[in-house]
Amino acid sequence: MKRVARQLDLALTPFEALQRPARAVDLAGVTECLREKDPALLDHSHRVAFFADLLAQRLQLPEGMVGQVRTGAFLHDVGKLGVAHGILLKPGKLDASQLREMRRHPVLGARMLRDLSLPRGVVAGVLHHHEWWDGSGYPDGLSAGQIPLAARIITVCDAFDSMNSHRPYRRALSRQTIFDEFQSFTGRQFEPYLVDAFLRILETGVCDPPLLPASSSGGCRAPVHPGRRLRYGVQ
Ligand SMILES: [Fe+2]
Repeated sequence: MKRVARQLDLALTPFEALQRPARAVDLAGVTECLREKDPALLDHSHRVAFFADLLAQRLQLPEGMVGQVRTGAFLHDVGKLGVAHGILLKPGKLDASQLREMRRHPVLGARMLRDLSLPRGVVAGVLHHHEWWDGSGYPDGLSAGQIPLAARIITVCDAFDSMNSHRPYRRALSRQTIFDEFQSFTGRQFEPYLVDAFLRILETGVCDPPLLPASSSGGCRAPVHPGRRLRYGVQ
């Protein structure tokens, strides 16, 4: 339990670091909105912030950049506040128009944060966390080094949390399957260097299941189809 609390403290550190009270109030408001919209989304945001913090530190980024990555990771899906409940919480597959609506969330999120005077790296992380290393992501089809570093880090951590959590349509994947999926998508969805660094973090056990908030384990109703190739992070 203490370890979970420590995880949440880490995710919340950006708020404490903010110097303008008005901005802190705004971000605390975002937290409340996420909780109200979907408690699982708030849990996911905390966990992705925790993983991104670990990865940014492993890369030995300057402390200020680590903070931007962590804050961007916490806020990466804030644009889902603007997505209809029926789409956000739909247990089955989204149809084409619903998918288009869902895929607006990075742009919506960046727009929502525009007036909070956050560092550019934070907003860039939110806007570009669904870009793919090979250029096949969205919203702008950026590739490789065109994608801001914060976004590349968030992409890896977001995918890990997606694979490592139960979903309405599948159970959490085994650690071996997660390793295999990362290897399979490295150089396509993910920057190879970041995958390598993140897998080394996973090997230490610091991201093992006991760290995850209890509410993340709900909602599992069906196993993964064994032959299905998942595209992580396209929600
Ligand atoms: Fe997202």
